[in-house]
Amino acid sequence: MKTGAAGIELAVDWLKNCKFLFVLTGAGVSKESGIPTFRDALEGLWANYNPEELATPQGFKKNPSLVWQWYDSRRDKVKEVEPNPGHFALVEIQKIVPNFFLVTQNVDGLHIRAGSTDVVEIHGNISRFKCFDKHHEQADVPGGLKEPPKCDCGSLIRPDVVWFGEAMPEKLLRSSFAAAEKADLALVVGTSGLVQPAASLPFVAKQNGARIIEVNPNRTELTDSCDLFLEGPSGMVLPEIVEKLRR
Ligand code: OAD
Repeated sequence: MKTGAAGIELAVDWLKNCKFLFVLTGAGVSKESGIPTFRDALEGLWANYNPEELATPQGFKKNPSLVWQWYDSRRDKVKEVEPNPGHFALVEIQKIVPNFFLVTQNVDGLHIRAGSTDVVEIHGNISRFKCFDKHHEQADVPGGLKEPPKCDCGSLIRPDVVWFGEAMPEKLLRSSFAAAEKADLALVVGTSGLVQPAASLPFVAKQNGARIIEVNPNRTELTDSCDLFLEGPSGMVLPEIVEKLRR
């Protein structure tokens, strides 16, 4: 497995020749924008907050205002930050390769703000809302509320994200698996690969003959199975790839 400059050259070569690129991103791609990941031992959200209280339907039913306020503060944080060079590099890669499919587990909307198009937000988006009971979509909901407001149907409004124990949107899941099957190259950026079913997407790509490039400063569940591990932060590694890809 090559790393360093030789690894970047190899990634560029594969990207230049690929017909269908499948990209999966996770919290690591937004780290350099100032958004904490989930599983960092010290700063990670799940090191400091309890996912069962804050990211499950049961948690919301038990204490809707706590969950509402936590998401409200995360939304404020997202508004304060900007996409980083890793997000922008993926926008450039999308322009260069013939077929590009980006699935993100991130709910921060930063890929879209950077300019990526047709992004599949498989865990939803923190800035969209729906009602708890009937999933009625909600237009803009004001920030700073202490309690979740109510939908016209009477149900509480919640963020339109996927919580633990909930199914992902069927259509998005189907199109993501279909794209993973079709890809001849997969680029996996900034995810620990611990949350299913998103984590199995790179393996599906591999089983169908794709090469896998992983970009991450740390080894993950996927690293031993990937064809190229580019060890480093995506805000540095991806722009390096783009620079060489343009030459
Ligand atoms: P994790 O927090 O599990 O993993 C983040 C990954 O990013 C780790 O592998 C880090 O090594 C890596 N990383 C850190 N800094 C990086 C950088 N600058 N550049 C690139 N990579 C970096 O986050 P996810 O894998 O996204 O789901 O977590 C998956 C899901 O678990 C989330 O969508 C969320 C969470 O619980 C739900 O809330 C349903």
